[in-house]
Amino acid sequence: MNAPKQLNKDVEAMIRVDQAGEFGATCIYAGQLAVLKNSAIGPTLKQMAAQEEVHLKTFNDLCVARGVQPTILQPVWQVGGYLMGAVTALMGEKAAHACTIAVEEVIADHYQSQLDRLGPEESELKKTIAQFRAEELEHKDHAELEGGRNAPAYETITTVVKGITKTAIWLSKRI
Ligand SMILES: [Fe+2]
Ligand SMILES: [Fe+2]
Repeated sequence: MNAPKQLNKDVEAMIRVDQAGEFGATCIYAGQLAVLKNSAIGPTLKQMAAQEEVHLKTFNDLCVARGVQPTILQPVWQVGGYLMGAVTALMGEKAAHACTIAVEEVIADHYQSQLDRLGPEESELKKTIAQFRAEELEHKDHAELEGGRNAPAYETITTVVKGITKTAIWLSKRI
């Protein structure tokens, strides 16, 4: 008898964490663009940032439509995401791409686990998540093509950025 309610809570947590993640993504790109907007990769960064804005708007709308309270940690993700983007960008274009690779790898896994858990009654949401996941993987592929895996301190950036992203996901599901 509690099953449907539990499912709703699950979906609610998914929408909350996805809204937080996409918000964080826009902040990461804002940080990267603050440093690199006039560089050679500026136009591509702007393109990817625009895609993240669409992702965010979609989850903002879903929060409203389904009565989901966004995470109270938004201000933390705003500063944290911005700093993560800006600091890696200051380390160079390849480091900025390494940051993108690490974030998108975590997010693609995260979206995949949601797709595995959502049932057919959430087919619209699944379609949205599948599309966004494909776009995140495009961001990752692009960052790889641009040499992100050859960034100085690649391993360190990957470990730190993945750790922060996973912690942010864990927290945003809960508060
Ligand atoms: Fe996104
Ligand atoms: Fe992305």
